[in-house]
This record gives sequence, structure tokens and C-alpha cells, in this order.
Amino acid sequence: MYAHLFSMNAHMWLLLKRTSFRWQHTASQSMNNLWKLHEKCFELHYDGLVMRFDYVWLRDHCRSASCYNRKTNQRSLDTTKIDLKIRPSDIRMDNETLFITWPDQHVTQYRLSWLVENSYEGQKQNAVQPRILWDSETYRNAKLPAVKRKDFMECDEELKTFLKNFLLYGIAFVEDVPPTIDATETVAQRISLIRETMYGRMWNFTSDFSRGDTAYTKHALNCHTDTSYFQEPCGIQVFHCLRHEGTGGRTLLVDGFHSAEKIRKESPEDFDLLCKVPIKHEYIENVGGYHNHMIGIGPVLNVYPWNNELYMIRYNNYDRAVINTVSYEFVEKWYAAHQTLTAELRKPENEVWVKLKPGKVLFIDNWRVLHGRESFTGLRQLCGCYLTRDDVLNTARFLGLKA
Ligand SMILES: [Fe+2]
Repeated sequence: MYAHLFSMNAHMWLLLKRTSFRWQHTASQSMNNLWKLHEKCFELHYDGLVMRFDYVWLRDHCRSASCYNRKTNQRSLDTTKIDLKIRPSDIRMDNETLFITWPDQHVTQYRLSWLVENSYEGQKQNAVQPRILWDSETYRNAKLPAVKRKDFMECDEELKTFLKNFLLYGIAFVEDVPPTIDATETVAQRISLIRETMYGRMWNFTSDFSRGDTAYTKHALNCHTDTSYFQEPCGIQVFHCLRHEGTGGRTLLVDGFHSAEKIRKESPEDFDLLCKVPIKHEYIENVGGYHNHMIGIGPVLNVYPWNNELYMIRYNNYDRAVINTVSYEFVEKWYAAHQTLTAELRKPENEVWVKLKPGKVLFIDNWRVLHGRESFTGLRQLCGCYLTRDDVLNTARFLGLKA
């Protein structure tokens, strides 16, 4: 069963250190599983990937009973006790598993598929969250159905379909919801915890200028993300129009990642600057009994450093504070980059306009999809809330989705 096993003791290790390394292959039928011990890392060719593992990493991630508690999924090993110069004293591999013996005779086993999944090289080629980027045509053609409230509330499969579409597109609708704040809250709680803010738990919105924010007027609003002035902007936003007796007031939706990816392709220096320059956003309110001063700091575009995947856009020109986090020689470049992105976000072909109606609840990924609205007349009452992002993703993972 185990053909061409290669076993190495400390003496051989020293010998190999002095001589050139030889490639080892472990599968009799194929040359796919190649491995090599370098002085600084273990190199494995498997499943079309070339992976390199640091030896401390290999010791630290040991899943043996004494190093890892499978009941709690927590590490028991005290990582700080690992000798940073540790090297295997013996190593062998069969078609599925890597066996490492350490100098103290402790044995670590890794499934090769686990290594593929958890290696840097494996992570690098996979998106943390698969998405479908859209402009208005793509979104229209996708013909995403709204889920009915009853199905959404009672059937996990319907909830899963809803969340799958929400994760892919960054927006999703639930319909047949009674036009009340309570019913909206119940629907929101099906997927997450509600994130309370200074606007309260459920906010209820008219154009009465009761709060110190443009949103509480009848004016048009350019596309933006909300709560850019929080260190961690709210992850998901829920909107429900309870009534509107008047004209206008359509909601604007723009896929921020679609526009940002265009900038990455067509103007990489602008993209880079928007990823690197931290900008302050600020909310100062002194209206009635409300006194709030919030400050959030971070770049407009946020990417994971290991795969350059976008995970958050923080874009709100209304709430952007004084730029004092970057020296003057970058300021003009930053403004140019900001204008390039803004021009892309405002292209009509990237805009989706929807008229929110009583009964239809809209969920927006506030880390990705920007919203705005046209001006309106008459009484318009909107309610909604913010959701904690972690808990939405938690529900999605529980239902078996990649999130
Ligand atoms: Fe907003």
C-alpha cells in the first residue's frame, strides 16, 4: 500500500543538509505527490499546487489529542514552547497523509487534502467569499426572485437560497412582510442579531429632520455606504418602506466592488492608493437631545493582503472628515483616485433603481453595495435596522454556505 516510503532520521537530516536535496515521490502510480525538505521549509507538490510549510507552523498546527482539543476545536499546545529552530527528525508520506516525527518523538499527522485547504498557496487562489459582480444589466438578467416571508421564516432551504443570493450579489429581498416595525424586526432577526447604534435598535425614518443627518430630509442622496464613521461600519442594512404618499424617492443601489474592480484593472495606481491611504469619517450631531461624535478611520478600499480580494468599501463623501492622515504630496493623487472611483460608481449603467414598497424588505451588504435615493415629495416613512455582519455570516455557514 505504501510504496516508495521515505523515512529519515536525524543523521540523514544532517547528511541532507550538507548535500543537495533529492525530490521524493510517494505515490507508486503517479509522480504528483512530490516533496522535499529544505532547510527553512517543507515543500509539497500535491493536487496541482506547490506548497511550502514552515517547520514551526507544522508543529504548531498539530492535530494530535495532546495538541488540539477536537471537542472545543481549540489549540491546547502552548505555541510559545516550540523551538523556533525545530526540524523534523523523521518524515514520511503515503498517498493521503503526511507523518512527521519531531525530536521529542511526538508524531504529527496531516491529511494532504487538509494541507491543500489550509496552506497559504491554497488560500491564495481561493476567494474568501465567492461573489457575482454586477452592473444594472447583469443584475436585471439574473432575475433574482424575492423570497416570501412565510417561506423565509419557516423553511431553512428558502433561507439558504436567500442567503446564497445575498452573499453572491450583496442585496436580497423578502416580500409579503406586514408594513410594521415589529414585522420588519422579526424578519431581520431570522438571519442575525440586530446591531444597535445611536439611531436605536430599529430606526424609523421620516423627513422631519429629527436627527442631524441628511437622510432625515427629502433631498436626493448620492450613493454611499452607511456608518463609515464607525471603526467597524455596520455590516448589513435593512430597509422597509412602510408608506409613501407622494412622488420620487426611488432607492439607488450600486455594486461598489464591481466599480472598484474596474479601477483595479484600468487604473491600478488609483486602486492602490485607495487601498493604502487611511481616511477619517466623522459624525457630529447636536440636535435636540442627541449628542454624538463618532470617528471611523480606514481606507476607501479594503483588501485581504494575501489574495488582494476586496472585502469592504468605505465610501461616504457626506461624512468624510478633514483629510489629515496623509502628507500633501499624496493628497492630489488621492483626490484624483477618488474622482476616478466616483465617476465609475456614478455611471448610469452601474445603477440599479428600485421603488421600495410596503411589504418588501431590502437587505443590503453595507460593506459592498452603496445606496442612495432620489428626492421625493410627500410623507415617506422608512424603517429598518443594521445587522451584525458576523452573525449573518454565522447563519450562512451553519446552513452550509461558504461565507
Ligand atoms: Fe444611507
